[in-house]
Amino acid sequence: MLVSLRDRIFAASYDPLTARWEKRHGAELRRKLLGHAGGRVLEIGIGTGLSLPHYPPVDELVAADPSEPMLRRARRRTAGVGRDVTFVEAAAEQLPFEDDSFDTVVSMLVLCTVEDQQRVLQEIRRVLRPDGRLLFSEHVRSENPKRARWQDRLEPIWGVVANGCHPNRRTLDAIRAAGFDVSDVERGELPGAPALVRPYVSGQAPVSAGTLRSEGKQR
Ligand SMILES: C[S@@+](CC[C@H](N)C(=O)[O-])C[C@H]1O[C@@H](n2cnc3c(N)ncnc32)[C@H](O)[C@@H]1O
Repeated sequence: MLVSLRDRIFAASYDPLTARWEKRHGAELRRKLLGHAGGRVLEIGIGTGLSLPHYPPVDELVAADPSEPMLRRARRRTAGVGRDVTFVEAAAEQLPFEDDSFDTVVSMLVLCTVEDQQRVLQEIRRVLRPDGRLLFSEHVRSENPKRARWQDRLEPIWGVVANGCHPNRRTLDAIRAAGFDVSDVERGELPGAPALVRPYVSGQAPVSAGTLRSEGKQR
């Protein structure tokens, strides 16, 4: 995959720029979410691997990201964590994995950036087993119309600063529309984050019973 200068700079600056937030809030959010991971696990958009130290013991951990500079840093981090991780260079729009092959898929601060959110969510659905679940923690469009308009206005500039991130996506609606059950999901304000990306959703979403019925599958 071709690596742009922007990708290199974003990867190199990610840990220093997020270090303070990670220490104060991020690590705890990750620990809480990833405590629900089990079985064969895929994390999409692994970035520099900040989640890796927070996984409980699982059968297998696979980490994917389309950015080689990000993956390089995540690999390095794994060495200090002492666990086996399989790294795969791949965008989540086209996951190189078989249908029904994971028990858990994790997405943290990724659905704001992917090019085609619906396609990514369909890919997640495809690789998840019928009784599998999506664990996600994503910043989203504000429910306050005034604040959402402000996110819309700043989106182009923020996209340049944060390497393609869209602060104003209706990610929870997209997850629901892709066939997940989002009844056990928390909405709130990402503590300590810049105001533009503070509204967030986090939780675990199994494939909904209706979706499974329509696909002739059973848990
Ligand atoms: C804001 S960073 C989050 C990194 C990590 N998940 C974390 O919580 O620290 C967004 C990540 O999404 C990755 N990404 C961008 N486009 C993607 C795509 N289409 N599919 C999967 N990951 C993508 C980027 O390379 C980057 O590592």
